[in-house]
Amino acid sequence: MCESMTLFFNAQSHHFEPNLRKPFLCSVKRTHFSQLCQPSTENLPPDHGLILVGGSKLSGHVNISGSKNSALAILAGTLCCSKTSKLHNIPDISDTREMFSILQSLGVRVEASNGEVTVDTDGIRSVEPCPESVRQTRGGFFVVGPLLARFGEAVVALPGGCDIGTRPIDLYIRGLQALGAVVELRDGKVCAFAVNGKRLVGGKFHLDYPSVGATETLMMAASMADGVTTLCNVAQEPEVVDLAWFLNKSGACVEGEGSDTLVIKGRNQLHGPEFTIIPDRIEADKLSAAGCKIIETTQNTLEISALPGDIARDIRGVHVKTGPFPQFPTDLQPQIMALLMTRNGSSIVEESVFDKRMGHVRELQKLGGRIQVCGNTAFIKGQDHGSALYGTTVCATNLRGGAALILAGMAAEGITKIDGVAHIDRGYQNLDMKLCSLGANIRRLISLPVCQA
Ligand code: UD1
Repeated sequence: MCESMTLFFNAQSHHFEPNLRKPFLCSVKRTHFSQLCQPSTENLPPDHGLILVGGSKLSGHVNISGSKNSALAILAGTLCCSKTSKLHNIPDISDTREMFSILQSLGVRVEASNGEVTVDTDGIRSVEPCPESVRQTRGGFFVVGPLLARFGEAVVALPGGCDIGTRPIDLYIRGLQALGAVVELRDGKVCAFAVNGKRLVGGKFHLDYPSVGATETLMMAASMADGVTTLCNVAQEPEVVDLAWFLNKSGACVEGEGSDTLVIKGRNQLHGPEFTIIPDRIEADKLSAAGCKIIETTQNTLEISALPGDIARDIRGVHVKTGPFPQFPTDLQPQIMALLMTRNGSSIVEESVFDKRMGHVRELQKLGGRIQVCGNTAFIKGQDHGSALYGTTVCATNLRGGAALILAGMAAEGITKIDGVAHIDRGYQNLDMKLCSLGANIRRLISLPVCQA
């Protein structure tokens, strides 16, 4: 029989090392997750494809859905809150549905209808979410912070998400250690517990890089730790700010959101609030790249209008480099590349956040895009709309790369078929329907799974 190896995270070397410590037992009774996860064979997602006929002019208005990244972090944040959280504007996408499964696998009651989601955590009976679900979405791993803070322990599978490069979790682990957690890796799962056997303890931690997920996880953990926590060099993305607002509405005391330092006074208990998720800036920017203009924005609603004339027409021959907020968002990098292919001039797009986020280039080249890649830099020779791109069959291999293929397909002459649409559905609610309502010519092909005898 093969014995499982227990590894211990060494904060000095930043590596997991063998550990002879006796495995701890979760004090919260564990429920076997196979009882709680959706049956896997019956709910296989059908293999969708999109057929686009290029060249349509867009006009009209659409509403922007709630932010995916904000919703995922706040759904994790509901685990800090006793009683019921009422969330508005949660996008209906496969990533949020996966997050519901993660919460349900802990014993949380989730009711969702038309973007309104009620989360009741009083029935939590496990600190180990379904690992298959956690491996589906990066946001699933964020639950390690709230579980540890509220129950003193957590067992969470290593995270999944888009394949866009190495996505380590060293900052999460070192940050949790700074708050008094012991962290081990066992059988592909992170096992963490409060070293005093009860609660995390406030501390000071400097993030080497302003990681969005690590900032959010540590913010949730610190909200329920004993004493004051200072987190330096944190992420400043609007979604991080939205999570801080949610936590503060639950009774937490998070100060400095939107700056590079957070000061968090821990509270014994947080209570589920009513909260509205911000609109998705990446979806809004994607539609801007398709020639639409943002005409109305309030804290909670964002409307996009496609007007005659192309607002993106002046973007040509530019040098774009991605970086942490407020720099250019990495999640918009594939889409800006698709836009620049249709603009006269030479442009450069540099990716500095993830080390493998150029996978969409090969597919854009199939559509006629003149792009050369050298490491993490793409050199684009653009030609004006309609003259250079032609439809063919391409495949989405990740969420944002898939969105770029839709943009390029709409600009191409002829018919484009996009496979791998499940990647796009992870993060955009009804994107094809929204574009069709603006005049795009897009059809969805649904091939149902073949029945096995
Ligand atoms: C989040 C977003 C994702 C977005 C990204 C950057 C969610 C669910 N996803 O992902 O859409 O593209 O922010 O804006 O909110 N890193 C480390 N060690 C760590 C953690 C991260 O080195 O412990 C590095 C990563 O390898 C990467 C960089 O930090 O190079 C940025 O990653 P991070 O900000 O953590 O992205 P995510 O939170 O995974």
